[in-house]
Amino acid sequence: MKTQVCIIGGGPAGLMLSHILDANGIDNLVLERQTKAYVLGRIRAGVLEHNTVEMLRDYGLGERMDREGMPKDGTQILWENRPDFFIDVKKWTGKQMMAWGQTYITEDLYAARERDGGAVICEAADVTLHDIESDAPHVTYVKDGTTHRIDCRFIAGCDGFHGPSRQAIPRSHRREFLREYPFGWMGVMVEKPPVSNFTYVYHSDGMAMAAQRTPMLSRYYVQAPITDKPGDWSDDRFWETLLHRFPPDVAARIQTGPTIEKSMAPLRSFVSEPMRHGSLFLAGDSAHIVPPTGAKGLNLAFSDVFYLQRALVAFFKTGQGALIERYSDTALRRVWSAENISWRLTKMLHVFPGEDPFEQKIRENDYDLLLHSEAAQHALAYEYIGLPFED
Ligand code: FAD
Ligand code: DHB
Repeated sequence: MKTQVCIIGGGPAGLMLSHILDANGIDNLVLERQTKAYVLGRIRAGVLEHNTVEMLRDYGLGERMDREGMPKDGTQILWENRPDFFIDVKKWTGKQMMAWGQTYITEDLYAARERDGGAVICEAADVTLHDIESDAPHVTYVKDGTTHRIDCRFIAGCDGFHGPSRQAIPRSHRREFLREYPFGWMGVMVEKPPVSNFTYVYHSDGMAMAAQRTPMLSRYYVQAPITDKPGDWSDDRFWETLLHRFPPDVAARIQTGPTIEKSMAPLRSFVSEPMRHGSLFLAGDSAHIVPPTGAKGLNLAFSDVFYLQRALVAFFKTGQGALIERYSDTALRRVWSAENISWRLTKMLHVFPGEDPFEQKIRENDYDLLLHSEAAQHALAYEYIGLPFED
């Protein structure tokens, strides 16, 4: 089979890229290792930046989000024995964020690919990239016991952190930056109305967080030892821990109940540079991971796709390769900004095992600066909403 762009990975990055290329008349095909049901069953992100919201609207995918999502002016931070602080994105940047789940975006993207006759091949095993340094790469995969070959002009590696695309770049041509954190986020979903804001809590026992999906679906997280498994956390233990970390007046308003999902997410910061090698581009989690503090991962996947589709459309429509050449540098500027803010928020809001009182004093001082300095408030809001896309 022949196509212009072979996209590996049918998560939000791969599907969105496919959708936009299709809208521009560029032939493409998506190869996904899992079943569609499995991809749609993964519960992940819930906060969209203004840029992500605009992209969904621009490409005809905003209707359900605008109807059912919840626009937000910013995010609340509650601190043990200190005043509250609101990261006021609306005030400092004029923009809003949106509470809207990745699951719904992925559902809408699959529906749009099906409606528009897009080729999404699920349960594609042994996906392998070939000749990526040439102008005529190809990808092979196995489906129902048969090996297939896709010839293309470009490959888009949208296959997440564990996929084969990044590994296809020779080790000598990539540089990796990694920071792993000695704790994870234990998360639950519960069919109860959420508290009104996204809320991070700093407590001397560890971070806690309240997030939301719909008016009847709430998501909560607590910082937990990295070795813990969901099975170690009964519902009772989870709620007891969460409510203990929240200040009593807010805890009293949290509606608990039987959880419908429980999962443990490890925290890591990771970047692989460059994001292009020959005819292969990386986009989304295949090139970078941020810890969930700051809610940047899905939003970065969308900004990579924004820059990548622009480069590919220019190439196929006008023959110009300048944006292709610039893709990695442009995307990485935004990636590093998100890595920076996610790392700083992670450091500020979590208790690190073994840290000393000096580090605690610095953490409190960082928070006090936010409480008292409008310059610091403005800077945080600017970084938190994500850098504007570059022309
Ligand atoms: P993925 O979603 O990982 O998709 C990659 C796809 O490639 C998958 O479908 C996978 O099955 C497929 N694949 C893998 N290997 C192969 C292969 N060999 N062959 C073919 N296909 C393959 N981000 C935010 O912006 N806001 C948030 O609020 C937020 N909260 C989060 C909360 C949690 C608990 C977690 C875990 C993450 C959160 N994130 C958040 C991060 C966000 O979910 C990810 O950054 C996002 O899913 C990245 O999308 P992607 O398409 O790049 O990768
Ligand atoms: C979610 C929200 C956040 O603000 C965050 O930092 C991580 C996850 C969520 O909605 O799941």
